[in-house]
Amino acid sequence: MSFEKNILCIGAGYVGGPTMAMIAYKCPQYRVTVVDIDPERIAQWNSDDLPIYEPGLEEIVKTARGRNLFFSTEVEEGIRESEIIFVSVNTPTKTFGAGAGMAADLQYWDKTARQIRKYSESNKIIVEKSTLPVKTAQAMERILTSADNGIRFHVLSNPEFLAQGTAIKDLEDPDRVLIGSTQTPEGLKARDVLVEIYSNWIRRERIITSNIWSSELSKLVANAFLAQRISSINSISALCEKADADVEEVARAVGMDSRVGNRFLNASVGFGGSCFKKDILNLVYLCQYYDLKEVADYWEGVVRINDYQKERFVLNMLNVMFNTLANKRICLFGFAFKADTGDTRESPAIFVAERLIEEKARVVITDPKALKNAMKDLENIAGEISYVEDPYEASAGCSAIAVMTEWGIYADLDYKKIYRSMAKPAFIFDGRNILDHDKLFEIGFNVFPIGKPGLTHF
Ligand code: NAD
Ligand code: UGA
Repeated sequence: MSFEKNILCIGAGYVGGPTMAMIAYKCPQYRVTVVDIDPERIAQWNSDDLPIYEPGLEEIVKTARGRNLFFSTEVEEGIRESEIIFVSVNTPTKTFGAGAGMAADLQYWDKTARQIRKYSESNKIIVEKSTLPVKTAQAMERILTSADNGIRFHVLSNPEFLAQGTAIKDLEDPDRVLIGSTQTPEGLKARDVLVEIYSNWIRRERIITSNIWSSELSKLVANAFLAQRISSINSISALCEKADADVEEVARAVGMDSRVGNRFLNASVGFGGSCFKKDILNLVYLCQYYDLKEVADYWEGVVRINDYQKERFVLNMLNVMFNTLANKRICLFGFAFKADTGDTRESPAIFVAERLIEEKARVVITDPKALKNAMKDLENIAGEISYVEDPYEASAGCSAIAVMTEWGIYADLDYKKIYRSMAKPAFIFDGRNILDHDKLFEIGFNVFPIGKPGLTHF
């Protein structure tokens, strides 16, 4: 069967897998191939047990896989056969050399550019899907054109705005799709090819275009603004706890101003996820590079407040549990960085678990989807950690429960039964404000929400 276009995506991760599955699902006329250097990941994409948990993903993969969606490790063949290549490799924070701990590590990106150059036999459109420092497209174009073999490459920026847990909904009905291109006739022509792909299911007015640097920068700024809202409300949660105010009431009052808006104002133990911290630090590094110290400091404050919030959470546990956690069993309800995902990257639960172990607590972890990742995250931590799927079993014999992830199931548990099985006095630290605090207090728990006065029986 012949297809209208051959699309390739390099990188079969949380972004590459779902975005390509959506394109293939919506556009049966295109052949979509996703390649990765990790054979285990590709094998999982080809199995019934997909490598990531995302509501709705399995259905669309099952519909398109084998029809016009293919997962493979054949990077070379994939490059040769496609005219459009999305690059969705990881761009973590650099851990070595100049910019360590801040700048983006572009080694996977650079390697991909060289592979594309090496194996290409015809002109191609290259689409940056990964989140990158501004001006990366220029570096990409320089690497690609250095072969001097007459093959033309046009690099577009098309950042991904999906959030994990809602990826399928976000891909199917996005607030916007952003496509940045050079403003030359060839650049605009390449841009129109990508606009046409998305137009298969997204209304044209939601597909916005811009110059390529604005597009690259918009992605970093969008994440910085979202994270800033969380750090803003989290900073106020600390004040609420001192001032006997209720952070949810404050957030509601502030968020009802339509200029502010009510989303992303949930105070929490801190934000996690693979991107917020890395993208803000990337932005901070860029500002420092351009000698904009005040701007860099401003955005770095968002990360500093997040670190403060996580530390504050642990210190509060220590403080109210009579200044010692040694030998106490503490159960973490949830380990994923947010609900509806098994992803634990930068999850505040990692920090909290490590700090509790430092205090010599015995940590029990329960999570409906993230236990495997939790085990990997904590495998090098010396201390008593157990992993238990059932929350009732996990919390039995514990002195405290700390809610780390806003999984809906935790709000619906039988807390009378849980209370009976716990060591006394029993504590609950609700790092997500999802539980009924008054009811828990009535049952007998000492309850510590975020940004509200604690409820204690002492
Ligand atoms: P990921 O780590 O889940 O996936 C990246 C994949 O790329 C890995 O499977 C890795 O094996 C593969 N890879 C690396 N080098 C390769 C190469 N040379 N050839 C083939 N495969 C290679 O990462 P992710 O979460 O999908 O993120 C990818 C990019 O998208 C990052 O830049 C990230 O900032 C951005 N982003 C992520 C999200 C998210 O929700 N996770 C959302 C928006 C944007
Ligand atoms: C975030 C952005 O929302 C996406 O638009 C972006 O594409 C993505 O990063 C990325 O670039 O990787 P994601 O990290 O998947 O998506 O999830 P969010 O819903 O943004 O949540 C991030 C963290 O903030 C989670 O730990 C969540 O629990 C926390 N959060 C969120 C709060 O603590 N309070 C809130 O009000 C909202």
